[in-house]
Amino acid sequence: MDESGASGGSRKGNLVLAVNGQSFELSEVDHPSTTLLDFLRLNTPFKSVKLGCGEGGCGACVVLLSRYDAKLDRVEDYSVNSCLTLLGSVNGCSVTTTEGLGNSRDGFHPIHQRFSGFHASQCGFCTPGMCMSFYSSLVNAEKAERPEPPQGFSKLTASEAERAVAGNLCRCTGYRPIADACKSFAADVDMEDLGLNSFWKKSDGSEEKIGKMPPFRRSNGMSMFPEFLKERMKSSKVMDEKRFSWYTPVTIREVQSLLEDSVNDKEAIPKLVLGNTGAGYYKDMRTTEKYIDLRYVSALSLIRKDEKGIEIGAAVSISKAIEALREESAGKSKELVVTFGKIADHLEKVASRFVRNAASIGGNIVMAQRLGFPSDIVTVLLAADSGVTILSKTRQESVSLERFLGMDPLDSRSILVNVTIPFPEISRNLEPKARDILLFDTYRAAPRPLGNALPYLNAAFMADVSSSETLNGVVIKRCRLAFGAYGTKHSIRARKVEETMTGKVLSPSLLMKAMEAVRMTIIPADGTAHHEYRISLAVSYLFKFFGRLLDFPDQVPNVCLDGQVCFSSEDTDGENGFQRQNPALLSSSRQIVEVNNEHFPVGKPIKKSEAAIQASGEAVYVDDIPAPPSCLYGAFVYSTKPLARIKGIMLSSNIASSSVTALITFKDIPKGGENIGSLTIFGQETLFADELTRFAGERVAFVVADSQKHANMAAESSVIDYDTDNLDPPILTVEEAVEKSSFFDVPPYLQPEEVGDVSKGMEEAEHMILSAKIGLGSQYYFYIENQTALAVPDEDNCMVVYSSSQCPEYAHDTIAKCLGVRGHNVRVISRRVGGGFGGKSLRAIPVSAACALAAHTLRRPVRTYLSRKTDMIMAGGRHPMKVTYSVGFKTGGKITALRIEVLINAGISPDVSAIIPQNFIATLKKYDWGALSFDINVCKTNHTSKSAMRAPGEVQGTYIAESIIEHVASVLSLDADDVRKANLHTVTSLGLFYKDSVGDPDEYTIPSIWDKLGSTADFLRRTEMIEEFNRVNIWRKRGISRVPIVHEVSLRATPGKVSILRDGSIIVEVGGIEIGQGLWTKVKQMVAFALSSLVCDGNSSSLLEKIRVVQADSLSLIQGGFTAGSTTSEASCQAVRMSCDLLVGRLSPLKDKLKEHHGSVNWESLILQAHMQSTNMSASSFYIPEFGAIRYLNYGAAASEVEIDVLTGETTILRTDIVYDCGKSLNPAVDLGQIEGAFVQGIGFFMLEEYLTNEEGLTITEGTWTYKIPTLDTIPKQFNVEITNTGSHRHRVLSSKGSGSTFVNSQSFPLGEVSVRLLTFLPVRDSFRGAAAAPGGVSALRDEDGNKGGEEAGGGVEGGGKERGGVRGGGAGDDAGGEGGMRDGWGGGLPEAQSHEENIIKEHGTQR
Ligand SMILES: Cc1cc2nc3c(=O)[nH]c(=O)nc-3n(C[C@H](O)[C@H](O)[C@H](O)COP(=O)(O)OP(=O)(O)OC[C@H]3O[C@@H](n4cnc5c(N)ncnc54)[C@H](O)[C@@H]3O)c2cc1C
Ligand code: FES
Ligand code: FES
Repeated sequence: MDESGASGGSRKGNLVLAVNGQSFELSEVDHPSTTLLDFLRLNTPFKSVKLGCGEGGCGACVVLLSRYDAKLDRVEDYSVNSCLTLLGSVNGCSVTTTEGLGNSRDGFHPIHQRFSGFHASQCGFCTPGMCMSFYSSLVNAEKAERPEPPQGFSKLTASEAERAVAGNLCRCTGYRPIADACKSFAADVDMEDLGLNSFWKKSDGSEEKIGKMPPFRRSNGMSMFPEFLKERMKSSKVMDEKRFSWYTPVTIREVQSLLEDSVNDKEAIPKLVLGNTGAGYYKDMRTTEKYIDLRYVSALSLIRKDEKGIEIGAAVSISKAIEALREESAGKSKELVVTFGKIADHLEKVASRFVRNAASIGGNIVMAQRLGFPSDIVTVLLAADSGVTILSKTRQESVSLERFLGMDPLDSRSILVNVTIPFPEISRNLEPKARDILLFDTYRAAPRPLGNALPYLNAAFMADVSSSETLNGVVIKRCRLAFGAYGTKHSIRARKVEETMTGKVLSPSLLMKAMEAVRMTIIPADGTAHHEYRISLAVSYLFKFFGRLLDFPDQVPNVCLDGQVCFSSEDTDGENGFQRQNPALLSSSRQIVEVNNEHFPVGKPIKKSEAAIQASGEAVYVDDIPAPPSCLYGAFVYSTKPLARIKGIMLSSNIASSSVTALITFKDIPKGGENIGSLTIFGQETLFADELTRFAGERVAFVVADSQKHANMAAESSVIDYDTDNLDPPILTVEEAVEKSSFFDVPPYLQPEEVGDVSKGMEEAEHMILSAKIGLGSQYYFYIENQTALAVPDEDNCMVVYSSSQCPEYAHDTIAKCLGVRGHNVRVISRRVGGGFGGKSLRAIPVSAACALAAHTLRRPVRTYLSRKTDMIMAGGRHPMKVTYSVGFKTGGKITALRIEVLINAGISPDVSAIIPQNFIATLKKYDWGALSFDINVCKTNHTSKSAMRAPGEVQGTYIAESIIEHVASVLSLDADDVRKANLHTVTSLGLFYKDSVGDPDEYTIPSIWDKLGSTADFLRRTEMIEEFNRVNIWRKRGISRVPIVHEVSLRATPGKVSILRDGSIIVEVGGIEIGQGLWTKVKQMVAFALSSLVCDGNSSSLLEKIRVVQADSLSLIQGGFTAGSTTSEASCQAVRMSCDLLVGRLSPLKDKLKEHHGSVNWESLILQAHMQSTNMSASSFYIPEFGAIRYLNYGAAASEVEIDVLTGETTILRTDIVYDCGKSLNPAVDLGQIEGAFVQGIGFFMLEEYLTNEEGLTITEGTWTYKIPTLDTIPKQFNVEITNTGSHRHRVLSSKGSGSTFVNSQSFPLGEVSVRLLTFLPVRDSFRGAAAAPGGVSALRDEDGNKGGEEAGGGVEGGGKERGGVRGGGAGDDAGGEGGMRDGWGGGLPEAQSHEENIIKEHGTQR
């Protein structure tokens, strides 16, 4: 591939495109499968497009694509994911990335500024894609014919603004601030609705607020198509097809002739391509050398209407089809409004906007017909009685869609031409007085309502019914019932069910019969996950569709206008009212933070440093560092067996041997080195399997090739030859580990302490539950930046490694040992990490070590950026656990004793699993159990090593604590809230359970937080309202719960260094790594505060601008340790404060002297003088926490209300309120971001994410298709957070209490990490209790193996003992529980009255 500038050198037939207005002209492309992302990242300076998944599922790579239509002289602009868009398809296009909107040098775009000012960027890896998804919507709204918006706003509506980013993933922020940043541009936004930001104060008036925001001008929403490209497109747009192996026929005849040309050449069967989004699902392994782009074939791009219906060309994008359907339905007959409108609504839930913009209707249908893709489109079109036209060789045929689906898979030389959707017809005249109604509705149950999730099942029903007075009921004259995506070859018409109903008067018994027929018809293929759930969904949907006619047979005609209106179950909000169009995803939020000005600028909610350059794409992550000359690329080959001998590794012959340079294995470890991938004080992990692989997912080799793509292809297609003869079976369960005594040691200093005498406590008990069991599964980090490293050999046997790491020091030690060199020969550099959550600690080290080993062996730079799949397979993640507990309690709910046994699945290597028991017990101790004893085993198994993931062990500990409380409440038929309150600690019991961590008695704030939350969340009144709601509603149930959090953290020693340069600017180095948690921002604030006594002109805030925190360099600042455990921010702040104190000590005499002579002295003069006097202007410190104050407790509480549709399992978090005691927060805006982000990660763990393995331990949820983290549409509809500012904490850093620090290392916030996960979970379970026959469930509820859903909601907890009491959590049915937190798109908006936001900043202290 080559590139030349816009001027000169232009060769006929080249591929030409513009990126951010710059011309790129290519005379060749490596392969037609080259994506736009490949090109942008490798061949342009624009690195903002990030690779998060490579399958269209995350949005990190979104760009704006602009196409010029020379005939119409019109430009079309739309967002696409550049990871699937093929370079060949963008010939003649203009591409805009976030760098094209603005930058630090020429000025940021208001989108960048507002993302930064609304605190909407943390690690920043998702931010460029977010900005571009939003920008695309902005541009299109601006082009639309709409009324002029008020000055300073765009034409976008608030609803459109949040939906613009609904398909983009962010793992850090929790989305609320992103939604606010986007909504701030909306013409109809109420300024009061916007959350905490750095622009205005809550008390400012609306006009003032608008004035303070970075202004939006109309030009900011206009994309510019470069003139040179227009000219070029007018003259010729054809690139040399042969040279690029990219053919762009314009007639069907031309397509056919291209296909015919290759009839006898099997290898060369060309690939027909449109949006290429299908490659996101059916990964393209580059088997085809010739691509035929169907986009320019006019017959395939037409949308035509006649009196019978609408014909949509196969090449029409889903977005355009939606537009056409809406246009067609607008203002037309009621049947059209409903049928076409409903189809369009359903299509809007397909994928995400940036996929729909590229994805074609035809591509979807072909994937469904040929490969069994679980299509939504086919199901809804089937119910609408659609037909298709297909062309094979010379025969063109129009057949019904149903028949097409039943035909042999479309061969690769046939073409789908179009699909026809007939206008719905209503048959009349059953009897003179009958009122005829056409019903049409569509359904889908998916993990996320809007954001990129395939359905578990979809359905679309049409029924032509007549309300007959004679028969006193509703007659079903005709119906079409389509189901799909449930583990079937393709969507089907449920003919038997249709027959059962047709011509009959609807009655309960008929409906029952029909539902039974559905049960017999909808049978997922063997091995389909959530088998029973899918069947029950089908039954439920039929019930939903027809049930209303039964409920209100008399009212059917009354709600029908002209006797023809079609209504649908999904039109309604609650039980009776009509739902608003596009209900807000986030209907309201409130942030209350208390600002402490005592140590200004510490305590001020300033925006995160670097947020703006993260938004503009200028922030440099490891993979953005330009490749050094002769750089090679690596990809891991991993084992798929848990225990086997490795006889050999074969690379596929398809991959050109010239591309692959080496296959690095343990045999390449140099003399004197060790086969070591990571190390801690607890032990080490091997880098590569030796002759024996010990777990599926183990690194077996590292293929090194000339590009990342080639390395990935070689690794993917490699085959390992295994031999398992005479080997013991692997240990795959914790029970097997117990049987074989396969455990990791926990050193005595990490053993948690028991409390009191459990036997005595049991004797005091009036009731007991004995041996109840709970299982908890794993969770994947899902940082948006995959694991990555770059190793560059340096002179004198040295190695420089750039690593996305939370602990460069440990990476450094590992690499030195692995290579067998001294520590001073290695340098590890980490500037920023694109999301860590613990996964970039130990799990990142082998990635760096492999690159270093390969670079050392090959004497060339080697880098890698793991594919999402490899990352997920190797990552390990959170520790699964099995817990058995026995608890004794009194009739009033007071617990007297708890005995708990825990089996922790730690996987193959020690990692940091030895800390898990202590972390687990520390959070379990949040209640006064009377007495507590336990037996915890850390099991060594043949699984990937489990590692620290955000609140490791703590999430599980608090989950178990709350489960026990719930269990007790259930047995006693008490309100769980009362049982919680009865078991909250007193100051005395707190001391008993937590010993030295407790601090001063007045620091224990749970009782006041509990009461505060009770009133701010209006807990009691809402509890009553929920009872009433549940009483009157059969199919929707609500639940609410409030839980406390006590989270123990400990400080670690950390270095810091501050240097003042001659010009007065300040350079800071810290041990902590910026992983998005705002560590650098707090450190800057601390430096500005600590040096402020030297500022002579009184302007200490100007110091902030002079400070730069620089990347961690393991040789420059040693002993950096881990950025983990929630305390690195405060420790780093304290370290730099100490350094600053040294500088102040050195500079104060000079300052006083100068002041005496000159009256005043400014900063620059002082510093210059100091330099001239040879003052040491650099100070290093090593902060060692005070003995006795190392551990301390954080407190908080939260309440959540959840609603469940008991027919489908769809869940909605209606409202969450969080109160957190932050001490004196170092930066409340940063801490707020951690709280919200952590909370939403908790939603993921408890409601969506299932990190599953096969029976051999190989991860099977290995990408965005199967692993679902929350999106904007899954967060609480009302999201309120209050950070309280509690007095003075004498042992803490400037009285800050863990908030800043708690979030720092693993971005962990105890509320979010631990209790909040429960807060989302418990109400769900509450709701279940009231539900009689819910077919859905929540994924957090794992079975005992902790692998799949199912245990608790299904009533799996055993009660026993003296008095077993009722088994709790029942009701959801066996397969119902835990089958995946089903949600559907209609998601129940909140009443208008609740739609407001509030953010309050209380100011304390005075500004210095
Ligand atoms: C992240 C993501 C989420 C998705 N979510 C959903 C979802 O929720 N529901 C849903 O229904 N779909 C979903 N899809 C599928 C999506 O709708 C399809 O990928 C898309 O419609 C395919 O269109 P395309 O133009 O990209 O086809 P391409 O990828 O270009 O082609 C797909 C296949 O069809 C062949 N082909 C294309 N056009 C023709 C033609 N006219 N004649 C013969 N062969 C042809 C191609 O050769 C190729 O084999 C999702 C896709 C992605 C990437
Ligand atoms: S990288 Fe393209 S959508 Fe994820
Ligand atoms: S800021 Fe969104 S992924 Fe980190």
